Formats: sequence, C-alpha cells, structure tokens
Amino acid sequence: MKIFRTSSDMNAFSREVRRKGGRVGLVPTMGYLHQGHISLAKIAKEHSGFVVLSNFVNPTQFGPNEDFERYPRDLQRDNNLCEQAGVDAVFAPPVEEIYGRNESVWVVEDSLSTVLCGKSRPGHFRGVCTVVAKLFNIVEPDIAVFGMKDYQQLKIIEQMVRDLKFQIRIIRAPIVREPDGLAMSSRNKYLSPEERKNALAISAGIKEAAKKISAGCKDYKKIKSELALRISQSGGKLDYVEILDADSLHEFSYKNPSKNILVAVAAFYGKTRLIDNAIVGR
Ligand code: PAJ
Repeated sequence: MKIFRTSSDMNAFSREVRRKGGRVGLVPTMGYLHQGHISLAKIAKEHSGFVVLSNFVNPTQFGPNEDFERYPRDLQRDNNLCEQAGVDAVFAPPVEEIYGRNESVWVVEDSLSTVLCGKSRPGHFRGVCTVVAKLFNIVEPDIAVFGMKDYQQLKIIEQMVRDLKFQIRIIRAPIVREPDGLAMSSRNKYLSPEERKNALAISAGIKEAAKKISAGCKDYKKIKSELALRISQSGGKLDYVEILDADSLHEFSYKNPSKNILVAVAAFYGKTRLIDNAIVGR
C-alpha cells in the first residue's frame, strides 16, 4: 500500500493508474477509522480497481468551539486497517499541503446546507465542500464513496458534483452500526460507558419512529415529540429531531408525501455531539 503526503505525488499515482486503463475510487475520511469507513473502502473496491483513502482532519469544517484539536488521530493504526482492507493508497497530507496562506476561494452550497447540521454548525458544509472539491481535484477519481451516516453531507456532495460538473460518480454507502445499534463514529471514543449506554436512545428511537412511518402513521409531529422525549429522558441534549423529505430536505405536506422520508437526529451526550438517521422508503 502506498502512502502519499503531497498532492503532486498523489495525483501522479492516480494519473498513472488511469493511463494504464485502471479506475480510481476515492474514500474521503478524517481518520480514526472504524468498520463504517472500512465498509466504504470495500464498496469502492467493488466499483474500481484502485482505492485511495484520504485521511485528513479538515480544520475548516470545525467551528471555533468544536473539537478540531482533540479530534482522535492514529495514522499508524489507520494505515494497518487500510492495508488489511485492500486499500491501494492512503493520502494523508499535512494541513499546509491542502490550505495555502492567503486562500480566498471557497465552495459554498447554499440551499441544502441551511437546515439540520448546517443550521447548528455555521460554515461546516463550506469547509466540507471546499476540502472535498480539493480532494477531487488532487485524486481525480472516477468514483467516490460517501456514507449515509452523514446523510446531509452526502446530499450536498451529490449537489456539488452535479452543479460544478465534476466527472465523478458518487456512491452511497449504508450506515454501519455496532451490534447494539449505535451508529459507528470516530467520536464514539469520547463517550463514557454511561453516555455510551444512554446514547442508544438515538438509534432505538429512530428505529421506532421509522417503524411507525412505515406502518402508515402520518402524525409526524407526534412521532417527533416522542423521539425527542426518549432522547432527553436518556440524558441527551437535543440539537434537532427532524422528519423531512429525504430528497429536498424540506418539510413536506401530507397531501403530497415524498417517496422517501428522512428521520434525522443530532444530540449531545456530555460534550459529544452524535448524529444518526434513517430513510423510510415509500
Ligand atoms: P468522517 O466523519 O471520517 O467520515 C468519512 C466517511 O465515512 C463519510 O462519508 C461518512 O459518512 C462515512 N461514515 C462514517 N461513519 C459511518 C458509519 N457508521 N457507516 C457508514 N459510513 C460512515 O465525513 C467526514 O469524515 C468528512 O466530513 C469528510 C467527508 C472526510 C470531509 O472532511
């Protein structure tokens, strides 16, 4: 497995693969890998012969009072996991390689980014879109895989690819969960055993809400308040609970229900902000 630290080395590798007729799949991550990330690498491998996993904790997507400094990092452990998973190259640049001194160009999506996490984390998706656009330009992949765990992020990247005409196919990967239902996340490491147990209210509550919607219940207000109550009773501090049209991320009317409905939650257990969601197909 190759490990690249500079954009030029990364790009030369990718071009060489494609010159020889290979296809390149990119899995962007911020490292501290878990089986959710590894599942993305495996999906990428099914769609392209060469898998590049980027491992970069992107400073511009963290707010001033967020966890950029203490975000967990362990490159050696990550590289071992990548090697075992059949990743062909890891791109792990230093911050200076991605952000120059006087940069003034950003990629801003200004519709889907106004709701859910975009509302509570101003500037977050500007940071995400900008770094992902840079990674696309550096790696020039044929496909890129994103997890549905960060459903809003995935929607925004799909929109960016369409609007900016990136010649890259985006592949959606399902959420990978712990055996008890908790969605895997690098931030789960922050949870105390008590918080870890209490946080199960998120996945269990979302599952219950999705079941009611599938069964035809249309009282979304009631479903939302039951879900909110379950989370707050477990000790979680709610950021949001939403039931939205999964395609537009807007609220939908009862008369014209969308095909897919998104149930999405963000909540704090202690200082740790967790997100999770489910899509209910109609
Ligand atoms: P990160 O949180 O490391 O996630 C990297 C990718 O793994 C994302 O596409 C995310 O949706 C996916 N992922 C995380 N947990 C998952 C799970 N339990 N099941 C399935 N997929 C999961 O998302 C980011 O990093 C960053 O914002 C990034 C896109 C790399 C830009 O900096």
